[in-house]
Amino acid sequence: MKVLLTGAGGQLGQALIASAPEGLELVATSRQELDLADPEACRDAVEQHQPNWVLNAGAYTAVDKAKSEPELAHAVNAGAPEAFARALEQQGGRLLQISTDFVFNGTQGTPYQPDQTRDPLGVYGASKAAGEAAVQAIFGTGGRGLILRTSWVIGPVGKNFALTMLRLHRDRDQLGVVADQVGCPTSTLNLAQACWKTLQIAGDRDLPAVMHWSDAGAASWYDVAVAVGQIGADLGLINKPAAVQAITTADYPTPAKRPAYSLLDCTATRAALDLNGEHWQQALKAVLKQAKTP
Ligand SMILES: NC(=O)c1ccc[n+]([C@@H]2O[C@H](COP(=O)([O-])OP(=O)(O)OC[C@H]3O[C@@H](n4cnc5c(N)ncnc54)[C@H](OP(=O)(O)O)[C@@H]3O)[C@@H](O)[C@H]2O)c1
Repeated sequence: MKVLLTGAGGQLGQALIASAPEGLELVATSRQELDLADPEACRDAVEQHQPNWVLNAGAYTAVDKAKSEPELAHAVNAGAPEAFARALEQQGGRLLQISTDFVFNGTQGTPYQPDQTRDPLGVYGASKAAGEAAVQAIFGTGGRGLILRTSWVIGPVGKNFALTMLRLHRDRDQLGVVADQVGCPTSTLNLAQACWKTLQIAGDRDLPAVMHWSDAGAASWYDVAVAVGQIGADLGLINKPAAVQAITTADYPTPAKRPAYSLLDCTATRAALDLNGEHWQQALKAVLKQAKTP
């Protein structure tokens, strides 16, 4: 099986490269090799490499900055999956498009099901939602274009909330962290495993066209910040946790609005992939064990 991976330098991309199954031919591309804002380059990459799968882990992920760069966010998050889907539709091959809980508005207060209607709050979510819609429009529900939504991605490398909190626990005595946004962290280690399992199983049987994958449980950012301090101290990554104070979204205004409750129901995906979810605190521990001291 030949896989064209995008976003090779990102958090998920690096976890995918590190855990790629043996025998798989992986063409890993980062921005230098393939600019996702250039649809022709995306088409050309498919033509050149003739992959069985494009695993599109690359994305414009700067949620706040997207507000001031909407065209670029849209080009990368919607234009690239559309270009991949069109090229694969013509020449054969399949697409695994990684997407986000931010396609939902976060107001319903119960976990989101994969088939629920998208209603993003901001530019980033809208661009990812447009990418999903393009893939579905081109492939329909036939299984050649799969969408895997995830949430609050954290890995041992790259830019993420857990590593930022670890650094703040080290550098400060007190932190204020938002406690009224609820979702679930997702370890890149577990997410990468779910991606590879998806490609493996999709060769044998049909999978749902839209799937949800997060670690198990639920948390607020405050909960995650507290856990990072405790685990970081247990692992000897920091001397002692900072005191974490629960604050509200209103206390910490950001340019982009975030969903207040964006838990993804992963039940169907776990059954389809035959993978158990790991509780987010265990997963966080595994991530921090591999993290370089900030
Ligand atoms: N991070 C999260 O909390 C989160 C939550 C839900 C869903 N997701 C989704 O999960 C997937 C993986 O996210 P991640 O956390 O691994 O993100 P990440 O660490 O920000 O990695 C994204 C990668 O995409 C690359 N990229 C951005 N613009 C590009 C362009 N024009 N051409 C080529 N490459 C480009 C980046 O390259 P540079 O390093 O050169 O910028 C980076 O390597 C994405 O689809 C994202 O939308 C993420």
